[in-house]
Amino acid sequence: MRVLGIETTCDESAASVVAWREDGRGDILSNEVMSQIADHAAFGGVVPEIAARAHVEVIDRLVERAVDKAGLSLEDVDGIAAAAGPGLVGGVMVGLTTAKALALALRKPLIAVNHLEGHALTARLTDGVAFPYLLLLVSGGHTQLIAVRGVGDYRRLGTTVDDAVGEAFDKTAKLLGLPYPGGPSVERAAETGDPARFALPRPMLGRAKPDFSLSGLKTAVRLEAERAAPLKPRDVSDLCASFQAAAVDVLIDRTRAALRLFRDVAGHPNAIVVAGGVASNLSIRSAFVRFAGESGIRLVLPPAILCTDNGAMIAWAGIERLQLGLVDDLTVPPRPRWPL
Ligand code: KG4
Ligand code: ZN
Repeated sequence: MRVLGIETTCDESAASVVAWREDGRGDILSNEVMSQIADHAAFGGVVPEIAARAHVEVIDRLVERAVDKAGLSLEDVDGIAAAAGPGLVGGVMVGLTTAKALALALRKPLIAVNHLEGHALTARLTDGVAFPYLLLLVSGGHTQLIAVRGVGDYRRLGTTVDDAVGEAFDKTAKLLGLPYPGGPSVERAAETGDPARFALPRPMLGRAKPDFSLSGLKTAVRLEAERAAPLKPRDVSDLCASFQAAAVDVLIDRTRAALRLFRDVAGHPNAIVVAGGVASNLSIRSAFVRFAGESGIRLVLPPAILCTDNGAMIAWAGIERLQLGLVDDLTVPPRPRWPL
């Protein structure tokens, strides 16, 4: 089974063809991503109208390239999947409408995928992880701990009460004058910084319910930055390192709390999976390697290219759904808000 996946919910236009393998994992036959970073950089964040137009400009070529690079023609795929939300509605409409047109013209099944389900199932594409597993989903819009019990069977254990982790990285970068997108900028600046120089808060640490709160951390960075002004490069690095260390502590502590709850709702987890754009951060990755080692639980960290937004995760979620007969008709709407 081979499925074409289209992703246009935020600032990456992406298309990919993934094939199902006998061992239950996926073969990524092509994975085309066109980032709009340059289009949005001048504004310091994603501008929805610019994003939608940029998706329109590239989506046809991107689909063509994904199919070409897979060594196929469109007739060869068994289904057309697109992320139908959550995300910026203009962009979602571009990807979903493209998928509908292809499905109609080719008489292939259409699969409307929840973008978060794409992130959630990536560990099965790469590593064939069996259900159930604990997912820490950390992206620009979401910060959630989820018991993944099956396709379409997600139990949210905890979430953020304010900002998402990626958002906290992005806002921290912006207030320190670092370029968009903020996550990679903060990570780079932190490499040479002293994580112990600024004592930043670790909100929610130690609470039984695995929720997050990140806006206080971002505000603390702002206050320290104001106090240390005018900032020298050394101050910026130290602030980034201190911020990143606080974020790592929070993510590990909240995941530990979720593991305790997990057993009540889903039994024994087969793995901890960290996914979403923020999961490409190397400090976060190494902290989870240590944590999983100590806890004696298998850890699955998809490669960075499959943590940030991509079409392969949408194609794979499409395969999983198609195998269960979970297809959609052409009336399926875009869903800018769509909890998992
Ligand atoms: O999953 P994703 O590509 O898009 C969403 O669905 O939101 O995640 C994007 C988020 C952004 O907030 C970005 O700053 C963050 O992931 N991010 C990072 C890193 N790379 C991307 N955060 C921290 N460290 C990174 N290396
Ligand atoms: Zn995402």
